[in-house]
Amino acid sequence: NQEHAWRSAIMHCIANPTEVGTDNAYEYYPDGLLVVENGLIKAIGHAEELLPTLAPETQITHHPDGLILPGFIDTHIHYPQTDIIGAYGEQLLEWLNKYTFPEEGKFADKHYATEVAKRFLDELLKNGTTTALVFGTVHKTSVDAFFEEASARDLRMICGKVLMDRNAPDFLTDTPESGYQESKELIEKWHNTGRLHYAITPRFAPTSTPEQLALAGKLLNEYDDVYMHTHLSENVQECEWVQSLFPESKHYLDVYDHHNLLSERSVFAHGIHLCDEEMQRLADTQSSISFCPTSNLFIGSGLFDLAKADLFKVNVGMGTDVGGGTSFSMFTTLNEAYKVTQLRGQNLDPIKSLYMATLGGAKALQLQDKIGNLAVGTEADFVVVNTQATPLLKTRTERATSIQDTLFALMILGDDRAIQATYSHGQCVFQNT
Ligand code: GUN
Ligand code: FE
Repeated sequence: NQEHAWRSAIMHCIANPTEVGTDNAYEYYPDGLLVVENGLIKAIGHAEELLPTLAPETQITHHPDGLILPGFIDTHIHYPQTDIIGAYGEQLLEWLNKYTFPEEGKFADKHYATEVAKRFLDELLKNGTTTALVFGTVHKTSVDAFFEEASARDLRMICGKVLMDRNAPDFLTDTPESGYQESKELIEKWHNTGRLHYAITPRFAPTSTPEQLALAGKLLNEYDDVYMHTHLSENVQECEWVQSLFPESKHYLDVYDHHNLLSERSVFAHGIHLCDEEMQRLADTQSSISFCPTSNLFIGSGLFDLAKADLFKVNVGMGTDVGGGTSFSMFTTLNEAYKVTQLRGQNLDPIKSLYMATLGGAKALQLQDKIGNLAVGTEADFVVVNTQATPLLKTRTERATSIQDTLFALMILGDDRAIQATYSHGQCVFQNT
């Protein structure tokens, strides 16, 4: 609980570059100091200015080749899919039936769930991700297992039990009533305990009856600050299926809207094939989209239109979507995001990329007062990046002409090897030895 300081290059976003311009969106300290006390950020600034203000007994950790960034925020990921990452040859609906559902069935066993949750969290932390919005399975105990492990490491994490009462194997379905009841029990047990939060988690429209979606909306309205997390408009066949299952709905988003599932704490993964009206409705309700480029490319879903989301002022965070996604690394995810925007004739600058992976994600989760950047008073969730972690990174970052270019090199060439250490609530939760 004593004061501790880290000396290194430091950068963080302070606003959305799309709204304020890139130069006004971040702070950069080439020789910076980050001062932490009781798990919170006490000061941030230039080392030469802050060093004289430190208490004499303050421990200082110096990373001369480091770059301190806020911990990454993954706004869409499935912990039960950790071990089906990189499954060959299918698009969404076949991929679910062939790989995902059989694996998720194993999470009826609490011991199995606990073992995967541990490895999942290890993987997140070694990639510098300190907060994630996480799918469990339909099993209530899958969420208990996850929260127990997250709580043991004092991480800020959000999770929920999947609601799924049709179009899935019997061993993975609940009912509208049991799904409502078990979700409510999990909220009462876990929501806002320590740094944990609950998300009501209908898998996606095709696997819930209207009755189940209605009860999910009812439950959401019973709490002030519970999250809603689902998939939206990912795959063309999926969209057609939704239209046939809900013929009265105007469009895909309307299915969720009709059941009162849109809110400033609602996060929709993918959102690739959205019309203008859907984008406008997301903006009006302050709902967010999780952009999942590695998944969208890997399972062949499509190219997310980031410029359109920006035009409509929809909040966008980054998601890895493991196991549809192919990497836990936020650097790798931003690399693929850049390529998606290139294919769309758009341009994704490195500051905007960093924003979406940190403060933008925090805003999507309404947690910007607690996490997302290194502002004084927020929680000390940060990563120490080694800009020289590989020979290619070393030569490329040595030639970089600006911090933007250094960041860009990290996004294109970096992965877990570039994460030197990860801190959560001021404690070291991963160290690359
Ligand atoms: N849509 C419904 N379920 C899933 C899932 O598990 N992963 C992805 N990527 N999309 C989904
Ligand atoms: Fe997903």
